[in-house]
Amino acid sequence: MKKRPFIIDCDTGTDDAIAIIAALCSPQVEVKAITSVNGNVNHGYTSRNNLDLVEYLGLDLPVAKGAVQPMMSGFVQVETTDLTHGRTGMGDLELPRASRSRFDSRIASQLIYDMAVELEGELELLVIGPMTNIAIALLQYPDLPGLVKHIWFMGGAARGGNVTPTAEFNIWADPEAAQVVIRSGIPMTMVGLDVTEKAIMVEEDARKLRIAGTREGEVVALLLEYMFRRRDAGGENALMHDALAFAAAVCPECLTFEENFVDVECRGQYTYGHTFVDRRKKTGKAPNVSVALGLDTTAFRKWLVDTVLNGVQRG
Ligand code: BDR
Ligand code: CA
Repeated sequence: MKKRPFIIDCDTGTDDAIAIIAALCSPQVEVKAITSVNGNVNHGYTSRNNLDLVEYLGLDLPVAKGAVQPMMSGFVQVETTDLTHGRTGMGDLELPRASRSRFDSRIASQLIYDMAVELEGELELLVIGPMTNIAIALLQYPDLPGLVKHIWFMGGAARGGNVTPTAEFNIWADPEAAQVVIRSGIPMTMVGLDVTEKAIMVEEDARKLRIAGTREGEVVALLLEYMFRRRDAGGENALMHDALAFAAAVCPECLTFEENFVDVECRGQYTYGHTFVDRRKKTGKAPNVSVALGLDTTAFRKWLVDTVLNGVQRG
Protein backbone atom coordinates (compact mmCIF):
# COMPACT_ATOMS: atom_id res chain seq x y z
CA MET A 1 0.00 0.00 0.00
CA LYS A 2 1.32 3.44 -0.94
CA LYS A 3 1.70 5.54 2.18
CA ARG A 4 0.21 9.02 2.37
CA PRO A 5 2.97 11.62 2.88
CA PHE A 6 2.39 14.04 5.75
CA ILE A 7 4.19 16.96 7.35
CA ILE A 8 3.20 17.70 10.93
CA ASP A 9 3.33 21.37 11.91
CA CYS A 10 2.95 21.72 15.66
CA ASP A 11 3.63 23.48 18.96
CA THR A 12 4.58 20.41 21.03
CA GLY A 13 2.81 20.34 23.56
CA THR A 14 1.65 17.23 25.43
CA ASP A 15 -1.24 16.41 23.10
CA ASP A 16 0.82 17.37 20.04
CA ALA A 17 3.39 14.76 21.10
CA ILE A 18 0.67 12.10 21.25
CA ALA A 19 -0.60 13.13 17.80
CA ILE A 20 2.95 12.90 16.41
CA ILE A 21 3.38 9.41 17.86
CA ALA A 22 0.01 8.32 16.44
CA ALA A 23 1.08 9.52 13.01
CA LEU A 24 4.48 7.81 13.29
CA CYS A 25 2.69 4.57 14.20
CA SER A 26 0.03 4.78 11.53
CA PRO A 27 0.60 2.19 8.76
CA GLN A 28 -1.17 4.32 6.10
CA VAL A 29 1.03 7.35 6.65
CA GLU A 30 4.64 8.37 6.15
CA VAL A 31 5.66 11.36 8.24
CA LYS A 32 8.05 13.23 5.96
CA ALA A 33 8.98 16.00 8.39
CA ILE A 34 7.99 17.78 11.58
CA THR A 35 8.01 21.55 11.85
CA SER A 36 7.55 23.67 14.96
CA VAL A 37 5.94 26.97 15.82
CA ASN A 38 5.59 29.20 18.86
CA GLY A 39 2.40 28.24 20.71
CA ASN A 40 1.73 26.09 23.75
CA VAL A 41 5.23 26.96 24.90
CA ASN A 42 8.03 29.07 23.47
CA HIS A 43 9.35 28.07 20.04
CA GLY A 44 12.65 27.01 21.60
CA TYR A 45 10.88 24.31 23.57
CA THR A 46 8.48 23.23 20.80
CA SER A 47 11.42 22.73 18.43
CA ARG A 48 13.50 20.90 20.98
CA ASN A 49 10.61 18.67 21.99
CA ASN A 50 10.09 17.51 18.39
CA LEU A 51 13.75 16.69 17.95
CA ASP A 52 14.06 14.90 21.30
CA LEU A 53 10.94 12.85 20.57
CA VAL A 54 12.06 11.77 17.10
CA GLU A 55 15.49 10.81 18.39
CA TYR A 56 14.10 8.94 21.41
CA LEU A 57 11.95 6.87 19.05
CA GLY A 58 15.05 6.08 16.98
CA LEU A 59 13.88 7.87 13.83
CA ASP A 60 15.80 9.97 11.38
CA LEU A 61 13.45 12.41 9.69
CA PRO A 62 13.74 16.15 9.07
CA VAL A 63 12.79 18.33 12.03
CA ALA A 64 12.74 22.04 11.28
CA LYS A 65 12.27 25.17 13.33
CA GLY A 66 9.57 27.61 12.32
CA ALA A 67 8.11 30.96 13.21
CA VAL A 68 9.13 32.44 16.54
CA GLN A 69 6.15 34.79 16.68
CA PRO A 70 2.73 35.24 15.06
CA MET A 71 2.21 37.37 11.96
CA MET A 72 0.56 40.26 13.83
CA SER A 73 -0.97 39.36 17.15
CA GLY A 74 2.09 39.79 19.33
CA PHE A 75 1.44 36.55 21.22
CA VAL A 76 4.83 35.09 22.09
CA GLN A 77 5.27 32.53 24.82
CA VAL A 78 8.19 33.40 27.03
CA GLU A 79 8.30 31.14 30.07
CA THR A 80 4.87 29.74 30.62
CA THR A 81 3.40 29.37 34.06
CA ASP A 82 0.27 27.74 32.64
CA LEU A 83 0.62 24.13 33.60
CA THR A 84 -1.59 22.71 30.85
CA HIS A 85 1.52 21.47 29.04
CA GLY A 86 4.07 21.95 31.83
CA ARG A 87 7.03 24.34 31.76
CA THR A 88 8.69 22.74 28.72
CA GLY A 89 5.56 21.60 26.90
CA MET A 90 6.06 17.90 27.64
CA GLY A 91 4.32 17.83 31.01
CA ASP A 92 6.84 16.52 33.52
CA LEU A 93 8.46 14.18 31.01
CA GLU A 94 12.17 14.69 30.43
CA LEU A 95 13.45 12.97 27.32
CA PRO A 96 17.19 12.68 26.66
CA ARG A 97 18.38 15.77 24.79
CA ALA A 98 19.08 15.31 21.07
CA SER A 99 21.94 17.16 19.45
CA ARG A 100 20.72 20.52 18.15
CA SER A 101 22.91 20.06 15.08
CA ARG A 102 20.27 17.62 13.86
CA PHE A 103 17.79 20.40 13.03
CA ASP A 104 17.11 20.71 9.33
CA SER A 105 18.93 23.74 7.97
CA ARG A 106 15.73 25.07 6.37
CA ILE A 107 13.09 27.18 8.10
CA ALA A 108 9.69 25.44 8.30
CA SER A 109 7.98 27.39 5.50
CA GLN A 110 10.82 26.54 3.10
CA LEU A 111 10.85 22.87 4.01
CA ILE A 112 7.08 22.65 3.56
CA TYR A 113 7.26 24.22 0.11
CA ASP A 114 10.22 22.09 -0.99
CA MET A 115 8.43 18.90 0.01
CA ALA A 116 5.17 20.01 -1.59
CA VAL A 117 7.02 20.52 -4.89
CA GLU A 118 8.88 17.21 -4.55
CA LEU A 119 5.66 15.28 -3.82
CA GLU A 120 3.79 16.79 -6.79
CA GLY A 121 0.43 17.42 -5.13
CA GLU A 122 0.37 14.40 -2.77
CA LEU A 123 1.49 16.17 0.43
CA GLU A 124 -0.98 16.41 3.31
CA LEU A 125 -0.45 18.72 6.28
CA LEU A 126 -1.44 18.01 9.86
CA VAL A 127 -1.53 21.47 11.47
CA ILE A 128 -1.98 21.29 15.23
CA GLY A 129 -0.63 24.60 16.48
CA PRO A 130 -0.98 28.25 15.43
CA MET A 131 -0.91 28.43 11.61
CA THR A 132 1.97 30.89 11.21
CA ASN A 133 4.34 28.60 9.28
CA ILE A 134 1.69 27.57 6.76
CA ALA A 135 0.59 31.17 6.21
CA ILE A 136 4.19 32.28 5.64
CA ALA A 137 4.68 29.50 3.10
CA LEU A 138 1.46 30.52 1.33
CA LEU A 139 2.51 34.17 1.24
CA GLN A 140 5.95 33.27 -0.09
CA TYR A 141 4.80 30.75 -2.69
CA PRO A 142 1.53 31.52 -4.50
CA ASP A 143 1.62 28.12 -6.25
CA LEU A 144 1.54 26.25 -2.91
CA PRO A 145 -2.28 25.79 -2.78
CA GLY A 146 -2.11 23.67 -5.92
CA LEU A 147 0.59 21.49 -4.39
CA VAL A 148 -1.06 20.52 -1.10
CA LYS A 149 -3.63 17.75 -1.22
CA HIS A 150 -5.32 18.43 2.12
CA ILE A 151 -4.88 20.27 5.42
CA TRP A 152 -6.16 18.61 8.58
CA PHE A 153 -6.15 21.12 11.38
CA MET A 154 -6.99 21.32 15.04
CA GLY A 155 -8.32 24.76 15.70
CA GLY A 156 -11.35 26.90 16.22
CA ALA A 157 -14.82 25.79 17.19
CA ALA A 158 -18.27 25.91 15.66
CA ARG A 159 -19.34 27.15 19.10
CA GLY A 160 -17.36 28.45 22.06
CA GLY A 161 -13.69 28.81 22.86
CA ASN A 162 -10.99 28.12 25.44
CA VAL A 163 -9.07 31.42 25.45
CA THR A 164 -12.04 33.73 25.14
CA PRO A 165 -15.75 32.82 25.05
CA THR A 166 -15.51 32.78 21.24
CA ALA A 167 -11.92 31.84 20.37
CA GLU A 168 -9.86 28.67 20.51
CA PHE A 169 -6.13 28.88 21.29
CA ASN A 170 -4.52 27.83 17.97
CA ILE A 171 -6.59 30.33 16.00
CA TRP A 172 -6.53 33.07 18.65
CA ALA A 173 -2.70 32.89 18.87
CA ASP A 174 -2.39 33.91 15.20
CA PRO A 175 -5.75 34.76 13.62
CA GLU A 176 -4.24 36.54 10.62
CA ALA A 177 -2.28 33.40 9.73
CA ALA A 178 -5.36 31.24 10.16
CA GLN A 179 -7.29 33.55 7.85
CA VAL A 180 -4.63 33.24 5.14
CA VAL A 181 -4.69 29.45 5.43
CA ILE A 182 -8.46 29.03 5.57
CA ARG A 183 -8.92 31.35 2.58
CA SER A 184 -6.20 29.55 0.56
CA GLY A 185 -8.53 27.24 -1.34
CA ILE A 186 -6.64 24.14 -0.20
CA PRO A 187 -9.11 21.36 0.65
CA MET A 188 -9.23 21.21 4.43
CA THR A 189 -10.83 19.67 7.48
CA MET A 190 -11.30 21.53 10.73
CA VAL A 191 -11.34 19.63 14.00
CA GLY A 192 -12.40 22.18 16.57
CA LEU A 193 -13.02 22.26 20.29
CA ASP A 194 -16.62 21.15 19.84
CA VAL A 195 -15.34 17.67 19.18
CA THR A 196 -11.89 17.61 20.77
CA GLU A 197 -13.42 18.26 24.17
CA LYS A 198 -15.15 14.88 23.77
CA ALA A 199 -11.88 13.07 22.94
CA ILE A 200 -11.09 12.10 26.52
CA MET A 201 -8.67 9.30 27.39
CA VAL A 202 -8.96 7.30 30.60
CA GLU A 203 -6.61 5.38 32.93
CA GLU A 204 -7.30 2.04 31.26
CA ASP A 205 -5.89 3.42 27.97
CA ALA A 206 -2.63 4.40 29.66
CA ARG A 207 -2.36 0.97 31.31
CA LYS A 208 -2.69 -0.82 27.96
CA LEU A 209 0.01 1.36 26.45
CA ARG A 210 2.39 1.04 29.38
CA ILE A 211 2.38 -2.76 29.41
CA ALA A 212 3.24 -2.87 25.69
CA GLY A 213 6.83 -2.21 26.74
CA THR A 214 7.64 -0.03 23.70
CA ARG A 215 9.14 3.45 23.79
CA GLU A 216 6.14 4.93 21.98
CA GLY A 217 3.71 3.22 24.37
CA GLU A 218 5.78 4.41 27.33
CA VAL A 219 5.86 8.05 26.17
CA VAL A 220 2.12 8.19 25.48
CA ALA A 221 1.37 6.50 28.83
CA LEU A 222 3.59 8.98 30.70
CA LEU A 223 1.95 11.94 28.97
CA LEU A 224 -1.52 10.59 29.74
CA GLU A 225 -0.58 10.00 33.37
CA TYR A 226 0.60 13.64 33.57
CA MET A 227 -2.77 14.70 32.15
CA PHE A 228 -4.67 12.64 34.73
CA ARG A 229 -2.73 14.36 37.54
CA ARG A 230 -3.43 17.72 35.87
CA ARG A 231 -7.14 16.88 35.71
CA ASP A 232 -7.17 15.79 39.36
CA ALA A 233 -5.53 19.09 40.32
CA GLY A 234 -8.37 20.98 38.62
CA GLY A 235 -6.78 21.47 35.18
CA GLU A 236 -7.68 20.25 31.73
CA ASN A 237 -8.77 16.64 31.29
CA ALA A 238 -6.80 14.20 29.11
CA LEU A 239 -8.16 15.80 25.94
CA MET A 240 -6.70 14.57 22.67
CA HIS A 241 -7.25 17.77 20.68
CA ASP A 242 -4.42 17.15 18.24
CA ALA A 243 -4.58 13.38 17.88
CA LEU A 244 -8.23 13.80 16.93
CA ALA A 245 -7.23 16.02 13.99
CA PHE A 246 -5.01 13.17 12.82
CA ALA A 247 -7.84 10.66 13.40
CA ALA A 248 -9.98 12.72 11.02
CA ALA A 249 -7.41 11.90 8.32
CA VAL A 250 -7.06 8.16 8.92
CA CYS A 251 -10.09 7.12 10.97
CA PRO A 252 -12.89 9.30 9.56
CA GLU A 253 -15.50 6.79 10.76
CA CYS A 254 -14.77 8.00 14.31
CA LEU A 255 -16.22 11.42 13.46
CA THR A 256 -19.03 13.13 11.62
CA PHE A 257 -18.45 16.12 9.36
CA GLU A 258 -20.42 18.93 7.78
CA GLU A 259 -19.35 21.12 4.84
CA ASN A 260 -19.41 24.80 5.80
CA PHE A 261 -18.13 28.21 4.87
CA VAL A 262 -15.53 29.12 7.50
CA ASP A 263 -13.58 32.33 8.05
CA VAL A 264 -11.61 33.91 10.89
CA GLU A 265 -12.48 37.10 12.74
CA CYS A 266 -9.39 39.33 12.90
CA ARG A 267 -11.02 42.58 13.98
CA GLY A 268 -13.66 42.04 16.64
CA GLN A 269 -13.33 43.84 19.96
CA TYR A 270 -14.53 40.74 21.78
CA THR A 271 -14.37 38.15 19.03
CA TYR A 272 -10.73 38.36 17.86
CA GLY A 273 -9.66 34.90 16.75
CA HIS A 274 -13.19 33.55 16.42
CA THR A 275 -13.82 30.96 13.72
CA PHE A 276 -17.01 31.90 11.95
CA VAL A 277 -18.69 28.66 10.87
CA ASP A 278 -21.71 29.41 8.72
CA ARG A 279 -23.80 26.44 9.79
CA ARG A 280 -27.03 28.36 9.14
CA LYS A 281 -25.88 29.10 5.58
CA LYS A 282 -26.62 32.80 6.05
CA THR A 283 -23.72 34.19 3.99
CA GLY A 284 -24.58 32.38 0.79
CA LYS A 285 -20.87 31.61 0.44
CA ALA A 286 -19.76 28.21 -0.81
CA PRO A 287 -18.41 25.78 1.81
CA ASN A 288 -14.61 25.83 2.00
CA VAL A 289 -14.01 23.58 5.02
CA SER A 290 -15.22 20.18 6.15
CA VAL A 291 -16.00 20.76 9.83
CA ALA A 292 -15.93 17.90 12.34
CA LEU A 293 -18.96 18.09 14.62
CA GLY A 294 -19.53 14.67 16.17
CA LEU A 295 -17.33 12.01 17.74
CA ASP A 296 -17.64 8.37 18.73
CA THR A 297 -15.34 8.65 21.75
CA THR A 298 -15.07 4.90 22.36
CA ALA A 299 -14.11 4.23 18.74
CA PHE A 300 -11.55 7.05 18.86
CA ARG A 301 -9.94 5.79 22.09
CA LYS A 302 -9.67 2.31 20.63
CA TRP A 303 -8.18 3.66 17.40
CA LEU A 304 -5.57 5.70 19.29
CA VAL A 305 -4.51 2.88 21.61
CA ASP A 306 -4.41 0.31 18.80
CA THR A 307 -2.45 2.68 16.57
CA VAL A 308 0.22 3.31 19.20
CA LEU A 309 0.34 -0.42 19.95
CA ASN A 310 1.18 -1.00 16.25
CA GLY A 311 4.50 0.66 16.99
CA VAL A 312 6.49 3.20 15.05
CA GLN A 313 6.59 2.44 11.33
CA ARG A 314 10.17 2.30 10.12
CA GLY A 315 11.06 2.28 6.41
C1 BDR B 1 -5.00 23.41 21.13
O1 BDR B 1 -4.13 24.22 21.92
C2 BDR B 1 -3.20 23.41 22.59
O2 BDR B 1 -3.38 23.49 23.96
C3 BDR B 1 -3.38 21.99 22.11
O3 BDR B 1 -2.12 21.43 21.78
C4 BDR B 1 -4.29 22.09 20.91
O4 BDR B 1 -3.56 22.14 19.69
C5 BDR B 1 -6.32 23.27 21.85
O5 BDR B 1 -6.92 24.54 21.98
CA1 CA C 1 -1.11 21.86 19.63
